[in-house]
Amino acid sequence: MPRWLIPAFLLVVMLTSIPAALIYRARADTQRTPRINLIPDMDYQPKYLPQTKNALFADGRAMRPQTPGTVARGQLQEDDHLYRGRTGDDWATAIPETALSGVGTWEALVARGQDRYEIYCTPCHGQSGNGQGMIAQRGTLLMDRGLAIWTPPSSLHTDLVRGRAAGHLFNTITNGIRNMPAYGSQLKVADRWAVVAYIRALQRSQRAELEDVPEDVRGTLR
Ligand code: HEC
Repeated sequence: MPRWLIPAFLLVVMLTSIPAALIYRARADTQRTPRINLIPDMDYQPKYLPQTKNALFADGRAMRPQTPGTVARGQLQEDDHLYRGRTGDDWATAIPETALSGVGTWEALVARGQDRYEIYCTPCHGQSGNGQGMIAQRGTLLMDRGLAIWTPPSSLHTDLVRGRAAGHLFNTITNGIRNMPAYGSQLKVADRWAVVAYIRALQRSQRAELEDVPEDVRGTLR
């Protein structure tokens, strides 16, 4: 074996540790220069990002304020009944036909309402609307132990809520009421009306009269 082989071997071993040392240092270090971007994709684009400057305008803002008196396309929302649950100066008592435009039939609207209700309302108001959802049960438990102050969700079957106009229920969902949060940002307009329709179905299910039962099966009731 030639004598130079041993130092050469040691040198190679030392050199191979350099990349590892560099990587280790890069992980611990901070850097002022931007990282090396091998595949820039669309990372750098000639455009204005939110809250940035634009010298073109006198106030220097790249984000332009809306022109007063203008309405964005599709956002006029002048139908008071559909968008706010109001007819004239009062709460609308009926669900507007325009709420049907997406689903087609009243039956489909109620089905959609059940779907949304079970996602957004059951945690507090319960499957049947009796105000005993899982969160309500937990809240009551914590309150009994003196660990929380808690406003229980309303039962939807009290005379008060049964007597609420459809538009009032719609508004409760849109804007919340007293201690209940608003769901307008989570539920689209038509979906809010669908939930109102489903609340009416729930209310009827808890106070059904004999006349609600088809005649041929009335005899089987006790
Ligand atoms: C985070 C829990 C919570 C969720 C979720 C919730 N509610 Fe409520 N809701 C409440 C509470 C609490 C009250 C009673 C508020 C009070 O009395 O201060 C209430 C009250 C109500 C009332 C009675 C209002 C009145 O006229 O007095 C209605 C109707 C109602 N909720 C409908 C809904 C519907 C529909 C949904 C689903 C879109 C929903 N809530 C989701 C907590 C909730």
